[in-house]
Amino acid sequence: MTILIKNYEEIKKIHKSCKLAAEVLEMIEKYIKPGINTEQLNNICHDYIINIQKAKPAALGYKGYPKSVCISVNDVVCHGISSKQEYLKYGDILNIDVTILNNNYYGDTSKMFVVGDYLSKKSKSLCLTTKKSLYKAISIIKPGIRLNLIGKTIQKYIESKKFSIVREYCGHGIGKKFHEEPQILHYDSYDNGIILKSGMVFTIEPMINIGKHHVYLKNDGWTVKTQDKTLSAQYEHTILVNNNGCEILTIRKEEYNQIL
Ligand code: MF3
Ligand code: CO
Ligand code: CO
Repeated sequence: MTILIKNYEEIKKIHKSCKLAAEVLEMIEKYIKPGINTEQLNNICHDYIINIQKAKPAALGYKGYPKSVCISVNDVVCHGISSKQEYLKYGDILNIDVTILNNNYYGDTSKMFVVGDYLSKKSKSLCLTTKKSLYKAISIIKPGIRLNLIGKTIQKYIESKKFSIVREYCGHGIGKKFHEEPQILHYDSYDNGIILKSGMVFTIEPMINIGKHHVYLKNDGWTVKTQDKTLSAQYEHTILVNNNGCEILTIRKEEYNQIL
């Protein structure tokens, strides 16, 4: 297993891709309204990335994935495929996952959006708890800790709220490749994991369900759904381990005064 330590020049490039990815999430917010379909949202992101950012949407064509960003609505856990038949309605929750390739380096981030002002208490709590679990994990990251402390931290918090953590998908190292070592589990494992070092860059991206943790893959080969049809939420940031602890490379403006 090789976990790359990134140098200053590489970190600058990853940071640029991360900023672009975060800006796509900021840009798309105002379009999320009842009556728009997810294909329109995908296309707005695509055009913004290509024409304004002059960058590449890394999902498009990745292992044959057909769209530019992943849009996962309600009980879709991740890797949802946008469609012009899929219209948003009041009370829906959705994740948009943006990965940018710019100057040969990747940046990867996602967040939840809600459609309209009304949201049931339960879905609100799911999205907030998922976001907080990511922030809690980020708050313990510094050089010298064991990797499994990330999953441990997320699991402790999520289980205290009686939600469940998807097992099949995890965070990942990122840089010159979309998915690098190490894998970042969102639950505790018997393997304590490697020791974190300054210069490591990876994503944390917990997928959290209201019901059971079990998921299944639809026969389109991509869409992952909860088996029990309960709602699922996900937040993702790309993180740099540094001598002060860590830096959120994909941070958005709305988060500046929000993080623990
Ligand atoms: N962005 C996802 C991740 O966080 C991966 C999407 S792969 C795709 O790792 F092919 F579905 F785009
Ligand atoms: Co990722
Ligand atoms: Co992602």
